[in-house]
Amino acid sequence: MEKQLVFATSNEHKVREVNQILKTDITLISLKAIGCLEDIPETKDTIAGNAIQKAQYVYDKYNRSCFAEDTGLEIAALGNEPGVRTARYAGPAKDAEANMALVLEKLKHQEDRSARFKTVIALILQGELYTFEGIVNGHIAHEKKGAKGFGYDPIFIPENQELSFAEMGDEAKNAISHRGRAFKKFNLYLDNIK
Ligand code: IMP
Repeated sequence: MEKQLVFATSNEHKVREVNQILKTDITLISLKAIGCLEDIPETKDTIAGNAIQKAQYVYDKYNRSCFAEDTGLEIAALGNEPGVRTARYAGPAKDAEANMALVLEKLKHQEDRSARFKTVIALILQGELYTFEGIVNGHIAHEKKGAKGFGYDPIFIPENQELSFAEMGDEAKNAISHRGRAFKKFNLYLDNIK
């Protein structure tokens, strides 16, 4: 089995979380390390489509086995928005504070606050494509709570929990999160092909 995989992300939080979740002897290589400094296109209308697009881009251009992940927040009362627009919900600046403020404003008079995070990982290993999905159900809090994590963590309360993701440490979050669940499947797959 190949011992190196490029992780097609420039998000340092994701690299840290994934390094903690992955229990294999595979070395994660950053985009910077392979000289990929450009913004990788993310123009598809599904989370899976975007994950595949990012992995395919790196594979086609750099000819390296790689994986990408894409995550979206789906809020039932907003017709599953922001979905593929999760990063840029409040505008192109990808500002987490503005995104959370917009969600809280839109849900101000909503009783149904149910939401879920979905992660799809696309792996291209020696030219073959594999995908892995992870979902965590939960709800949107009435106000921000906690300072850990990133993105929408302060307003997302996972099912059967009282703390928001931003009030949990990395380990507690990874044990139940969308990304944690998707990467556990990914890990199992990598272990089985060794
Ligand atoms: P992308 O997967 O990099 O496109 O991220 C989409 C958006 O989802 C970004 O705005 C992130 O901040 C947000 N996001 C991704 N993962 C998480 C998470 O674990 N917690 C909170 N927000 C997240």
